[in-house]
Amino acid sequence: MADIPALLEIPKSAPTTAPPLSLSDIRQPVEGELKEFRRYFRKAMRSNVGILDKVTRYVLRQKGKEIRPILVLLSAKLCGGITESSYRAAALVELLHTATLVHDDVVDDAERRRGVFSINALWKNKIAVLLGDFLLSRGLLLALDHAEYDLLHTVSDAVRRMSEGELLQIEKARKMDIDEEIYFRIISDKTASLIAACMVAGAVSADADADTQAKVRTIGEQLGLAFQIRDDLFDYGTVDVGKPLGLDLQEKKMTLPLIASLQRAEPSERKRILKIVRKKKKRSGDITAVGEFVQKHGGLVYARSKMESLAADAAESLSTFPPSHARDALIGLAAFIVARRK
Ligand code: IPE
Ligand code: IPE
Ligand code: MG
Ligand code: MG
Repeated sequence: MADIPALLEIPKSAPTTAPPLSLSDIRQPVEGELKEFRRYFRKAMRSNVGILDKVTRYVLRQKGKEIRPILVLLSAKLCGGITESSYRAAALVELLHTATLVHDDVVDDAERRRGVFSINALWKNKIAVLLGDFLLSRGLLLALDHAEYDLLHTVSDAVRRMSEGELLQIEKARKMDIDEEIYFRIISDKTASLIAACMVAGAVSADADADTQAKVRTIGEQLGLAFQIRDDLFDYGTVDVGKPLGLDLQEKKMTLPLIASLQRAEPSERKRILKIVRKKKKRSGDITAVGEFVQKHGGLVYARSKMESLAADAAESLSTFPPSHARDALIGLAAFIVARRK
């Protein structure tokens, strides 16, 4: 396999040389507008059904990083200015994101999310599945109520791709025949599609032309891929990120660090590791063994360098927009995605 580059070389440098911005720095140009988004979001969650109201209040108490609404609003600002449509787009994507996380924790059998118990851990799968459906429907209705058909189209297509990506991931975990190309297809569908849709929805809400929409879509795709690689690297770490570690392996989910390492290992070692991954119940020693293997073959370094070059490409494209606070915040977000601790 002579065409495979050596893994332990120094990765490309991070996308910016300036000190990294915190999420609150990045939010700053749209801080006021985020409050308006949260109002929409909370309103869409309301229900007269007691149990639903109880569960949605629990969800609202532990908000996430709000990366997707921030992206919608910054993209709108980058492309001409925030409008009433931008708030609806931001609320719609966060509703869909929340719905998919609630379902994802059922699919992955995950007991923790955002540092607290997941919905399925507290209320069981039945409630989690139905809550996800409820949130999805509220998102669709929010768009329909305001005749936002373009927005609905953009976002519905992302939701289709997310479901396909999750299903392809399950298929590949069962057959254990994933390679790097399929990995990228999975993460493009399950994660980058929605992040790209955020960028497009923001641009559309600001009445941007088709070329600009296409340009921000590509940026969103690159940011989204980098975002998921970062998430997949967390699984090999030891730092608490508010959700379970080692769960990908437990679920036979092979991600970039492992895929790259397996590609470079000797057949006998490859066989030994695949045997561990195939085990139904893995002990902590099994997880450690795979972690050491991935470390030894430079899989973590390789994944990090892929992630960094994607974020660098996004930052470079962003830097071709005229200077503005929104543009700089988005460039900062590219660096944040790579460096984030949760
Ligand atoms: C988690 O997304 C799901 C992935 C696509 C990896 P986030 O990390 O943006 O989740 P929250 O909303 O901040 O919890
Ligand atoms: C993210 O998938 C959820 C979706 C993109 C639908 P993961 O299962 O990889 O993400 P986390 O780590 O649970 O947030
Ligand atoms: Mg998960
Ligand atoms: Mg998952």
